[in-house]
Amino acid sequence: MLDIKFEKSKNLKPIPDENNPLVFGTIFTDHMFVMDYETGKGWHSARVTEYAPISLEPSAMVFHYGQEMFEGLKAYKTQDERILLFRPDKNIERANNTNRRICIPEIPKEDFLQAIQAIVSADRKWIPTKPGTSLYIRPFIIATDPYLGVRPSNTYKFIIILSPVGPYYKEGLNPVKIWIEDDYVRAVKGGIGEAKTGGNYVASLASQVKAHDAGYSQVLWLDGVYRKYIEEVGAMNIFFKINGIVVTPMLNGSILPGVTRNSCIALCKKWGLPLEERKISIDEVYEAAQSGTLEEVWGTGTAAVISPVGELRWQEHIMKIKDGGIGALSQKLYDTVTGIQLGEIEDTLHWTMEV
Ligand code: COI
Repeated sequence: MLDIKFEKSKNLKPIPDENNPLVFGTIFTDHMFVMDYETGKGWHSARVTEYAPISLEPSAMVFHYGQEMFEGLKAYKTQDERILLFRPDKNIERANNTNRRICIPEIPKEDFLQAIQAIVSADRKWIPTKPGTSLYIRPFIIATDPYLGVRPSNTYKFIIILSPVGPYYKEGLNPVKIWIEDDYVRAVKGGIGEAKTGGNYVASLASQVKAHDAGYSQVLWLDGVYRKYIEEVGAMNIFFKINGIVVTPMLNGSILPGVTRNSCIALCKKWGLPLEERKISIDEVYEAAQSGTLEEVWGTGTAAVISPVGELRWQEHIMKIKDGGIGALSQKLYDTVTGIQLGEIEDTLHWTMEV
């Protein structure tokens, strides 16, 4: 159990007016959680302190070799003023998987959860309540040794910041348009694709700029070997409904194991829908689109929730899905996941945890 010191911020900020839309990832709350690590001493000095700039040596290893990890989860306020976290255990498990992959010391899961609970509780009044909003929780760890040379750091900082957010995409729940990339790749099996680390996101930027310039919100990645099998989208996992069957790429070592992905799979199975986690090629998707059996496409992610996809562009081919509208299953998944998150639908799967 952590002994968390609480240093109240002397510069409390105004809480955003809920009548103005919350642009994702732009506003931060009054406090942050911080804990330090040193080889030989372990994780220590847990504190909740003012959200403020941090001071690091220019030689800190994170700036040079990218030894850093992050997570993303959300807190929600229910109508009866309870605060719920959605499946924090899954994020903590994934965080420690990432830590192992990139040689960052693990954080005991009870301590990780206690840290999340402490910071969310400290800034609970920042949790927005308008439909489609929530408090985004961003835990991350950075390597802080002042050292120029490639090896794991001996010192780290674990920080959790909070951001009241609206939808990740400007489209909200309206379908997004996605660009299928077949030039660059995001990750390969054996690399760090299944870890949640900044390196995977920086690898995506050049394609994302290209896609944005062409009027698309996100990039869909193909596998790094055959440039043929669907992997994931920049900020979400991807699902297809083809001829009545829900299909999503199986986890293969280069795909991020999304918590919302896992939740959608569990819900589809609970509803008795045929669902396959398997390799799915871009040719199969294109043929389904041509033959009219590509019934729905949607992405899943903590930030993105369930995001219907209205158009896929692959080379010169444009595939319109549902005439650009929202499919019934995407809508049902969105309503169910957000209903559970907000405590409006009975949580029979025990996914929420009260703060
Ligand atoms: C999340 O969905 O929480 C993520 O970390 C994706 C990020 C690109 C916002």
